[in-house]
Amino acid sequence: MVKASAPGKCILFGEHAVVYGQPALACSISQRMSIELEREDTFDSWRIDGRTFNGKKHPHIKYIRDHLPPHDEQPLHIRIRGTIPKASGLGSSAALSVALCGALQQIRDEPQNLQQASELSHQAEAQAQGGRASPMDTATSAYGGFVVLSDSIEEDLDFIETRSMEVNGERQEWHLHTFEATIPEGTALVIGNTGVHGSTSAMVLQVAELIQNEPTRKVELETIGAIARRGIQALRNGDMKAVGQAMSENHIVLRSLGVSSPDLERLIRAAAPSSLGVKMTGAGGGGCMIALTENPEETVGAIEMQGGRAFITAFNEPGLQIEHLT
Ligand code: MEV
Repeated sequence: MVKASAPGKCILFGEHAVVYGQPALACSISQRMSIELEREDTFDSWRIDGRTFNGKKHPHIKYIRDHLPPHDEQPLHIRIRGTIPKASGLGSSAALSVALCGALQQIRDEPQNLQQASELSHQAEAQAQGGRASPMDTATSAYGGFVVLSDSIEEDLDFIETRSMEVNGERQEWHLHTFEATIPEGTALVIGNTGVHGSTSAMVLQVAELIQNEPTRKVELETIGAIARRGIQALRNGDMKAVGQAMSENHIVLRSLGVSSPDLERLIRAAAPSSLGVKMTGAGGGGCMIALTENPEETVGAIEMQGGRAFITAFNEPGLQIEHLT
């Protein structure tokens, strides 16, 4: 039996614009997904949590299974566990995909290969998102910590890898980096969940159609990119006030792109007075918002008063981990 886990993520800057190559920053969160794999002795087909595997219901798993099958082709029983709510903008499908890659690498007696886990999971995401996906969620889940995507190699960050993919007929290239961030004592990140499911593929398609019908709206994606650059620099300088300011500005542009929702706006309005900065996180249309705050208890209370579910997350959680091997 093999068990692997990978963290979810939240996006501090740059969702949607990153699909078109703009800079962005994400960090891993405390919530994780775990995958247990066991050889199937009684059934001659793969199963998930006791049920026959259905590739249509689990497109990410199908893609990864097809690209990283066990050498002996013996069917496996997959158990999925985890604390990342589905369709909430916290990267549950990326974490699931990365954890599955890690577990399959072990079953295949291969050494852990983070680059392969991140790349295959990115391709699985792209397939599930109509061909439009950045490598941000999957890389953050694989490597953990803070992950910066940029349109150029940033000399003063730790370079991880370069990834490219065709999006809407245009070749996009993302240079992935990480860095050690020191978060000042007393500053916390609060996540507020609307409880409303948001569909990443639908929201990504909505933005694609918007810029196709009104090409001048691409400026908004560039504005998000410029805000992301400023926010990343502020975080590296430890200037949390400026980080918060950039987060709130990023949210205003996301709202004008039409990817926020009334529920997200309600939670954001509630959290703003006690926070340094607030924004939606992930694809939007529901899902989660985040608040950078020096008053986490007060911020959590304000979000919950408005019907959201809120929690404080740690920064810098480890990426893909093998938890058990027998
Ligand atoms: C979803 O978590 C983030 C998006 O930018 C899509 C992507 O990067 O693939 C909306």
